[in-house]
Amino acid sequence: MTGMMWLAAVCVAAGTMTIGDFVLINAFMVQLFVPLNFLGFVYREIKGSMANIEKMLQLLRVQTSVNDKPGAQSLAPGNGNIEFRDVSFSYRPDREILRKVTFNIDAGQKVAVVGASGAGKSTLVKLLFRFYDLSGGAIRIGGVDISDVSKHSLRRAIGIVPQDTVLFNDTLFENVRYGCPEASDAEVANAIRLAHLDNFISQLPDGDQTRVGERGLKLSGGEKQRVAIARTILKRAPILVFDEATSSLDSKSEQAILKALREVAKGHTSLVIAHRLSTIIDADNIVVLDQGSVVEQGTHEALLARRGHYAELWFSQQRDQQKEQQEELPV
Ligand SMILES: Nc1ncnc2c1ncn2[C@@H]1O[C@H](COP(=O)(O)OP(=O)(O)OP(=O)(O)O)[C@@H](O)[C@H]1O
Ligand SMILES: [Mg+2]
Repeated sequence: MTGMMWLAAVCVAAGTMTIGDFVLINAFMVQLFVPLNFLGFVYREIKGSMANIEKMLQLLRVQTSVNDKPGAQSLAPGNGNIEFRDVSFSYRPDREILRKVTFNIDAGQKVAVVGASGAGKSTLVKLLFRFYDLSGGAIRIGGVDISDVSKHSLRRAIGIVPQDTVLFNDTLFENVRYGCPEASDAEVANAIRLAHLDNFISQLPDGDQTRVGERGLKLSGGEKQRVAIARTILKRAPILVFDEATSSLDSKSEQAILKALREVAKGHTSLVIAHRLSTIIDADNIVVLDQGSVVEQGTHEALLARRGHYAELWFSQQRDQQKEQQEELPV
């Protein structure tokens, strides 16, 4: 364009062209270059979108390994009684994770699962959600095998506080609302209060409109857990699952949240996985898992009286706690 304009200017100076010709050439050039520029922009956009469409189609073509049976019914809501019967499972054929696990959670009861790390506790929860199909046995909710109902209705009936919370790079408020997208602002705010997030939020310059970062990396472990708890409170599902729900909290916040959770879980069937046994003393039944098998089950008192696995765990945790308290005493 500079070349053309320079040539035209030289011609005008030499008297072979008029000023009008100069303006005409300038107008032609502008008319030509604006659409050409635009074409380049559109071409780049189209190329970018094609790449995204291809990725999306690839994702849509992925076959899920766990599928609904044809004509699967919805899980009837309100049926909260859960039965694990001879459940066996392995992620890979050469390593069995769960071996004939059998226990019951009656409607409205709180059942705790305890055991060493890697015993298969979180795996039990994944199976309850039907992320995998069992290799043996059955899981029934309200007497209906979960493989006979639609996955959507099954997952709607269960609220979970998972061991590692997945957050979206959005505001805190919207992350809580994810528990029940149709909830009103007031309901979300109430859930935030019950999960003891309001204190933390009031310290933030942007309040509940603070963005949490990719996967929630701008929040501490305990704060993320409280977001997950708020989501679950908001969802108000008939079945509640807590997988190490308060493990990253200090004892004071833990006690406060446990109290709130007890209120929320009233009348709901709940499955609680915990390392700290003091948080599950009040469970109706405690299942002790060891290397994928149930080794003991019963109430806290009954298990202590048996002087088995559970009693051993309990006393070792008590000793640790006493030691900690002694260390904290002023010298
Ligand atoms: N997707 C997977 N593929 C293969 N193996 C897995 C997978 N997920 C878990 N495992 C294995 O299954 C075993 C049980 O895992 P699980 O997460 O159920 O343990 P856990 O009892 O919840 O332990 P923790 O108390 O540490 O959370 C572990 O040994 C783990 O390595
Ligand atoms: Mg786990």
